[in-house]
Amino acid sequence: MDELIEIRNMCKIYNPGENEVRALDHVDLQIDRHEFVAIIGQSGSGKSTLMNMLGCLDVPTSGTYYLNGQDVSHLTDDELSDIRNREIGFIFQGFNLIANMTALENVELPLIYRGVPKKEREELSRTALKKVGLEKRMDHKPSEMSGGQQQRVAIARAIAQAPPVILADEPTGNLDSGSTKEIMGILKELHKEGRTVILITHDNEIAARAKRIIRIMDGKIVADINNDAALA
Ligand SMILES: Nc1ncnc2c1ncn2[C@@H]1O[C@H](COP(=O)(O)OP(=O)(O)OP(=O)(O)O)[C@@H](O)[C@H]1O
Ligand SMILES: [Mg+2]
Repeated sequence: MDELIEIRNMCKIYNPGENEVRALDHVDLQIDRHEFVAIIGQSGSGKSTLMNMLGCLDVPTSGTYYLNGQDVSHLTDDELSDIRNREIGFIFQGFNLIANMTALENVELPLIYRGVPKKEREELSRTALKKVGLEKRMDHKPSEMSGGQQQRVAIARAIAQAPPVILADEPTGNLDSGSTKEIMGILKELHKEGRTVILITHDNEIAARAKRIIRIMDGKIVADINNDAALA
C-alpha cells in the first residue's frame, strides 16, 4: 500500500460553545500517493476546512492525521510549516500573487524563504513558468496578465520545488471556461508526472475530471466513488 494520507475520526469545531460550528464531523479519509482526487461539496460544507487540515495549515479539534506515516495532528506551528514547505504545493482561487512583483519574482518568493540560493531558485522558477506556458510572461506583473495567466503563475509558484502533493482549492473558481480547461490540463499533467493532486471544487463538471470523487456535506463524507470515466 502506498498510503499518503490517513485521517481518522477528525472533527473541527469553530467557536466551541454556544455558537459552535462543526465544520468537520468525524471524517475518515485515506488517500494514496499518485491519486487524483476531487473533493466536492456545496458552499459551507467544509471543503476549505478539510483542505486546511490536509495542508497542515490548521490542526483538528480531535482525531488523527497521518501524512507520510507521520502523526501531524499535534505538531507545533514551526513543525507544520516545515512539512508544508517540503511536501505541499498550494493553489488558491484568488491566485494570491504579489501585485508589484513580476511573474518570475512571485514564483521565486517562497524559494527565498526556503533559503534556496539565487541561481538555483531562478532556474527552478524559469523551469516552472515554462512548464505552465508562460515563458514569454516572466517579466509581467499580475495586472498585466489575464486571470488564467495569473493562475498559471500561481501554479508555477506551487510546483517550482516539485512538491509531491498539490492541493488546489477552487483553482478555477475565478476563471472563464477556456482558462479553466488550461488549468485542468496542467493539473492532469502534474498528476501524470506522479504527483498526488487534491482538487477542491463545488462544480460537478470540474470534479468529473478527477479519478476519484469524494463528496462532503455538513462536514461529513457522504460519497467516495471511483471515476474511471476521467481516464480519457
Ligand atoms: N474561522 C472560522 N470560524 C468560524 N466558522 C468558520 C470558520 N471557517 C469556516 N467556518 C464555518 O465552517 C463551515 C465550513 O466552512 P468551509 O469554509 O470549510 O466551507 P467550504 O465548503 O469551503 O465553502 P465554500 O464553497 O463557500 O468555500 C461553514 O459553516 C463556515 O461558516
Ligand atoms: Mg471554501
